[in-house]
Formats: sequence, structure tokens, C-alpha cells
Amino acid sequence: MIKTAIFPGSFDPFTSGHQALVAEGLKIFDKVIVAIGENPDKRGLLTVENRKRLIEDLYRNEPRVEVVSYLGLTGEYCRDREIKFMLRGMRNTVDFDYERNMMQINQRLYPEITTVLLFTPSEYVAVSSSVIREILSFKGDVAQFMPEGVDITKYL
Ligand code: PNS
Repeated sequence: MIKTAIFPGSFDPFTSGHQALVAEGLKIFDKVIVAIGENPDKRGLLTVENRKRLIEDLYRNEPRVEVVSYLGLTGEYCRDREIKFMLRGMRNTVDFDYERNMMQINQRLYPEITTVLLFTPSEYVAVSSSVIREILSFKGDVAQFMPEGVDITKYL
């Protein structure tokens, strides 16, 4: 049986930290679905289409990674597709509290789904989409925080 995990997030934008998490996930699962949760109330920096394009371009030669976007509850999307594992990354104790809450709510609503919480590799702990958005807003250089070779200006 192919073991599949969903890796849900906003990915605005996808960072080198997210890439490290996908790499960790692929050690455990046969397939990782990077799933962009669409929030119609929140206008991001990148459109959902461009977030998706960036991640698809990055994993063009990796058939074990699929990229999707979805509306609504992540658990509902998992249930529709019969996905049983939800992969999330944790950098620090702030993330831990948030992730534990989300895991507990999801566990109540979707008991068939197991959350797999992985530590972010240490070199990426300071990297976040919000830091990248802030640097970009002041026209700074974010290349070192993005997956290698990704030119963010192609997706803005
Ligand atoms: O990258 P993020 O911002 O931490 O991702 C958050 C995301 C999209 C995974 C989360 O907000 C989410 O799952 N949104 C959909 C609504 C939902 O299922 N919420 C969890 C139950 S309260």
C-alpha cells in the first residue's frame, strides 16, 4: 500500500524550511501532497496560482510530490481523498502550542487522521514565510531563504 501524507500550509511563499520538511516527509512516506489552504478572506503576497506554480516548478522531477490547493477544512479534504496522515513542521515552542491545538481539534473532528509533527532541521528554524514577506516589502534579498534556484520575482 502506498503511504501518503498531506503537508498543508499557506506557503506564501514556500520556503527552504518547507522544502526541508518535504524532504523529511519523503523519508517516511511514499508520497507527499503539498496542499495550499486557500483563505478567501486573506489576500496573500502571492496568488494561490503562483504559490502552486512555484512549488510545482521546484518538484517538476519528483513524482512523489503532488501539489494541490483546497478550500475549507484540511481534514475534510483529507477525508474526501482518504488521506490518513497530516504532516506538519515545528520550529519552536510557539509552533508547538499552535500545532498541538490544531492536532487536537483535527483529532476530534477527523479521528481517522494522524498528525505527524516533525522538527524543522536547525538551519531553517529562523526561516518563515512572514520573514520573507517582510524582507520583500523592503526590497531586500530573500534568495538564501528560498529553495535553491528559486527566483521569487517570477512568482510575484
Ligand atoms: O502555513 P500555515 O499558515 O501554518 O497553514 C495553516 C493551515 C492552512 C494548514 C491551516 O490554517 C488550515 O488547516 N486551514 C484550514 C482550516 C482548518 O482545517 N483548520 C484546522 C481546524 S481548526
